[in-house]
Amino acid sequence: MFPQSYSLSPSETIYKFNLGASNSYIKKCINTIYEIGDTQSNQTNVKALMTDWRIWKNNNIFNNLLDNIIRALRVNLKLDPKIFDLQITECWGSIYKEGHYSVAHTHFPSNFSFVYYLTDSPQTPIVFPQYNNFSLYPKVNDLIIFSGGLFHKVPKHKGKDRVIIAGNANVYIFHDSWIPESYTLKYR
Ligand SMILES: [Fe+2]
Repeated sequence: MFPQSYSLSPSETIYKFNLGASNSYIKKCINTIYEIGDTQSNQTNVKALMTDWRIWKNNNIFNNLLDNIIRALRVNLKLDPKIFDLQITECWGSIYKEGHYSVAHTHFPSNFSFVYYLTDSPQTPIVFPQYNNFSLYPKVNDLIIFSGGLFHKVPKHKGKDRVIIAGNANVYIFHDSWIPESYTLKYR
């Protein structure tokens, strides 16, 4: 079953919020990520120190931040909370030291992806290669939101440690009457 494919160039929007977290809260998050340390051994697209996929299971310090990220996503997407639920499915911390990078990748099949910056990133951007290498150099407290299918990468890091929290969120139909009776694969 090989389909014909038609590549279009849709417009893509990347959103940036300033979450306004206090310096002391940011410091606590950074310290906790250093304490957790690397659990992935460069086995993912992120060639940097990386925690496990669900950081909130390690420590409840991130709950406040994750709540704010969900609120930002909800406002941004104009989701009616009576109908749609939005959940963070994965969220991890990363520390980029000199020479660390990420290969170009997407977060398919996630609906939305985000990166929250716990440090400035003046020399090392997040790059979107399908869009003429459009690059952002976020500052501490910036939350970047983009669709989960959008390719992105990080070039080799230079300078002081770059510490971020990244993750994915999916939208679910929340209201019972809206849930269709889905067909799932019967013959595997
Ligand atoms: Fe990513």
